[in-house]
Amino acid sequence: MRVLGIETSCDETGVAIYDSEEGLISEALFSQIDLHVEYGGVVPELASRDHIRKTIPLIKQVIAESDKAIDGIAYTQGPGLMGSLMVGAAIGRSLAMAWNVPALGIHHMEGHLLAPMIEDPAPEFPFIALLVSGGHTQLVEVQGIGQYRLLGDSLDDAAGEAFDKAAKMLGLPYPGGPQIAKLANSGNAGRYKFPRPMTNRPGLDFSFSGLKTFTLNTIASEREQNRLDDQTRADIAHAFQQAVVDTLAIKCRRAIRETGISSLIIAGGVSANLSLREKLGAMVDEENARLYYPRPEYCTDNGVMIAYAGCQRLKAGETTGLPFSVQPRWLLEELTAC
Ligand code: KG4
Ligand code: ZN
Repeated sequence: MRVLGIETSCDETGVAIYDSEEGLISEALFSQIDLHVEYGGVVPELASRDHIRKTIPLIKQVIAESDKAIDGIAYTQGPGLMGSLMVGAAIGRSLAMAWNVPALGIHHMEGHLLAPMIEDPAPEFPFIALLVSGGHTQLVEVQGIGQYRLLGDSLDDAAGEAFDKAAKMLGLPYPGGPQIAKLANSGNAGRYKFPRPMTNRPGLDFSFSGLKTFTLNTIASEREQNRLDDQTRADIAHAFQQAVVDTLAIKCRRAIRETGISSLIIAGGVSANLSLREKLGAMVDEENARLYYPRPEYCTDNGVMIAYAGCQRLKAGETTGLPFSVQPRWLLEELTAC
């Protein structure tokens, strides 16, 4: 089965064609970063207007590279920005009607969660998933597609959101995650000791708002003492990144021990962070477990993960009817097995 996937939940227009027999056929991505950078974050109305401009040309581009007809269409149904989701869903549903093929709305985080399965070797079920994106920080026990048990969740800011906010405090442009990672490379370890929130008590939930305040206070204090030079900023970026990475690693180790599941996958924008990959790589070695992650371009938003997830579910016979809807808020646990 050959599936066209459309991702428009936030600030990336991603489309791809995935074939259940032949794998990935074609993909195209347009990032809106330049559009939003002057505002320091995503402006929803600008995002949806740009998806309107880009989605159809990108679909034409990937279709031109496919030697066979499309058998089904998958689009991101949520969670995400209402207007942006509406663009992908309306285009996907309409094209499916015109081509007389089934359409299916996909959960954006399921797309992220299944992205490591596009790689070789792919993880086998069951596995633990650490989902770390701009809107989510979750630990999920995955027994199969749609069989998700939430082990831990963020009580406030998501990991990516914390990266973005810390970057803003340090005067770095949006999106902040990759910028902090770059600055941290020239930072020295040991100058600052940032907290590892919620690691002293049991449980697998996360909270990054205290770390954000700690970062803000550290920057303010250094600025007051006229010490906020480039090296200081790099040292703060390093300490901040290390605190997030350590916190995530402590919780992942705990999840492996508590569930007895020895495959860990990481997905979502923050999983592109090299320091996180290194730390988790060392941790799984100690636990006799294995770590899987998608290549960096499939960590952040893309159409491939939606085409892949859609292919699995459409193949199993799932479809969305003609009256479609989008869900800006949508819990992963509400999904059903396929
Ligand atoms: O998955 P994603 O592209 O979009 C959402 O679904 O939210 O994740 C975007 C988030 C942003 O907060 C961005 O700063 C963060 O992922 N991010 C990173 C890195 N690359 C992207 N955070 C830390 N290190 C990175 N290398
Ligand atoms: Zn995402």
